[in-house]
Amino acid sequence: MQNNNRNVSKWADGIFRKIECKYRRNAQNIKGIFPYTADKDGRFTEQPFLKGRAGVQWWTNGFYAGIMWLLYSKTGDGLYKCAAKEQEKMLDDAFVIYDELNHDVGFMWGLSSKPSYIFDKDETSRARALIAANILAGRLNVKGKYLRAWNHGDYTIIDCMMNIPLLYWASKETNDERFKFIAELHADSTFKHHLRENGSVAHIIVHDPLRDAAIGTLAGQGCAEGSAWSRGQAWGIYGFILSYIHTGKKRYLDAAIRIADYFIEHTKARAWRVPVDFCQPDHPNYIDNSAAVCAACGMIEITGATGDPHYLEAAVRILKALECDCDFSDDTEPILNNCAASYAENRQLPLIYGDFFLIEAILKLCGNEFLIW
Ligand code: GLY
Repeated sequence: MQNNNRNVSKWADGIFRKIECKYRRNAQNIKGIFPYTADKDGRFTEQPFLKGRAGVQWWTNGFYAGIMWLLYSKTGDGLYKCAAKEQEKMLDDAFVIYDELNHDVGFMWGLSSKPSYIFDKDETSRARALIAANILAGRLNVKGKYLRAWNHGDYTIIDCMMNIPLLYWASKETNDERFKFIAELHADSTFKHHLRENGSVAHIIVHDPLRDAAIGTLAGQGCAEGSAWSRGQAWGIYGFILSYIHTGKKRYLDAAIRIADYFIEHTKARAWRVPVDFCQPDHPNYIDNSAAVCAACGMIEITGATGDPHYLEAAVRILKALECDCDFSDDTEPILNNCAASYAENRQLPLIYGDFFLIEAILKLCGNEFLIW
């Protein structure tokens, strides 16, 4: 996006130089793991949830490759391309294990194989991204008109709005409209069932699998049923504006704006710091910077789509407020601290998607035009 504020550009350029310094070192040093969080010495570690060989299927395993492609898009440095392609090859095992693959294939291959094909014209990468798109499209419940989350129960989750950009890409790439139809069915279902009157979104909706009907909501990673988990709000803002960018359908822009307005109102009241859940008790004041940076990306795109500077200004305030949680030193590998996997556990730690969306947001403010989604 073109950012016409010279002070903001100068600030973002300065942050980008520090990011590049740190991640240039990371790209040289990190081999053979999918970074997720960090140990007490600040070294990247893998996710602890899926054990052994199954771990390759974890939903965040495309983010480090995605960071490498973002940095490549700005610098053109082959170091980042090599590191991204190494991660992409490591992901192949997930296709053959398969049993834990779910709606998150969009994150996994949309951030690794799709940019690999875009930048490198690698046909194997194209095939991987299309296989992932087919797996995602195959999750459609034809009667319920939604993409099923996980591999048990009949749920939709707001997070999935970030997976469907892979379907928009697959339609363009293959000239096959079906992928886009499925993405829109899912976006419309999310609009209908997740978006609340006050502009917040529910994390999880329980569906009747035999018709287009919601039969309940769950707290998910938020603090309580009916609450407003901040990363869920961020997935909604960025996910809906991406659906608008890919389809031109105004209802998705309107949804992104409604959720962004809710997010801004509740963040402004907290000196622009983002809690894990906007409905959490005042103490302890758990912060989730991963939600903050993802929401900022969405808000910058809303200004790009509408020309309304309010959303860009809010994004900059949010990003400046979390600068105190950024570690640009040589001593550690991740940058952004104080992220949270959920309200209940794994809080106040670095998470790879925190770094990813921080880098993406800063690159947008630097005027980088490449949209990885
Ligand atoms: N399931 C994605 C997230 O934790 O936000």
